[in-house]
Amino acid sequence: MYVLGVDIGGSGIKAAIVDTITGELITERHRIETPQPATPEAIAAALSQIVIHFNWSGPIGCGFPAAIQHGVARTAANISQAFMGINIDKLFSEATKCPCYNLNDADAAGMAEIHFGEGAGQSGVVLLITIGTGLGTVFFTDGKLLPNTELGHLYLHNGKKAEHYASDAVRKTEDLSWKRWGIRFNRYLIMMEELFWPDLIILGGGASKKFDKFKGQLTVEAPVKPAAFLNQAGIVGAALYAQSKIT
Ligand code: BGC
Repeated sequence: MYVLGVDIGGSGIKAAIVDTITGELITERHRIETPQPATPEAIAAALSQIVIHFNWSGPIGCGFPAAIQHGVARTAANISQAFMGINIDKLFSEATKCPCYNLNDADAAGMAEIHFGEGAGQSGVVLLITIGTGLGTVFFTDGKLLPNTELGHLYLHNGKKAEHYASDAVRKTEDLSWKRWGIRFNRYLIMMEELFWPDLIILGGGASKKFDKFKGQLTVEAPVKPAAFLNQAGIVGAALYAQSKIT
């Protein structure tokens, strides 16, 4: 089965057609800039452009940086507030004339890892954290997704939310060395371990590519691994999600 997988982010929208049996991309990845301001209508129009680019007329899965409850955006931390309460399944399906299924971006990345990456075959509790502009989280128990955990918003240090203290965006804006940032991120992992006791922690998102530069700072008991999928996880996982909705 082929599905158009889309990863909607604050700066770029990335997409490819995915073979959901193998988890492989069967086309080149196509990226366009996220329109600014990134209003629901502007994102819907950008998605239509992507559908035209691929000459696509089948199901679409989209990873989106918000809690998505039955198609409705419930949070808007790093996206336009105008998304709050909008049924984006409906909006994007109408705009593209294709059935479109949306899920949280970290949940999408997790779907790819649990099926085809570092989480494949892993029993017990797996926590995946995406490290980017925000901190996205997703849990699986025996391979089953717990959707919409927003644990980048836990308060971590001096009244700051974790994603305002230890995200990759903070590392860049505060010009932190990997070591100093790693110490901060380790605090977050310690908190997650004390609260949830995962059997395995997988790190995704941009910073996970630099795992070697900060792994020395990590002291949690659970094994910590960088994601097997680098920048394709969101696309592949979103496609898997759409597939699960139509079969
Ligand atoms: C959002 C989450 C998202 C994460 C990563 C957070 O700010 O609240 O929904 O998964 O960023 O993009």
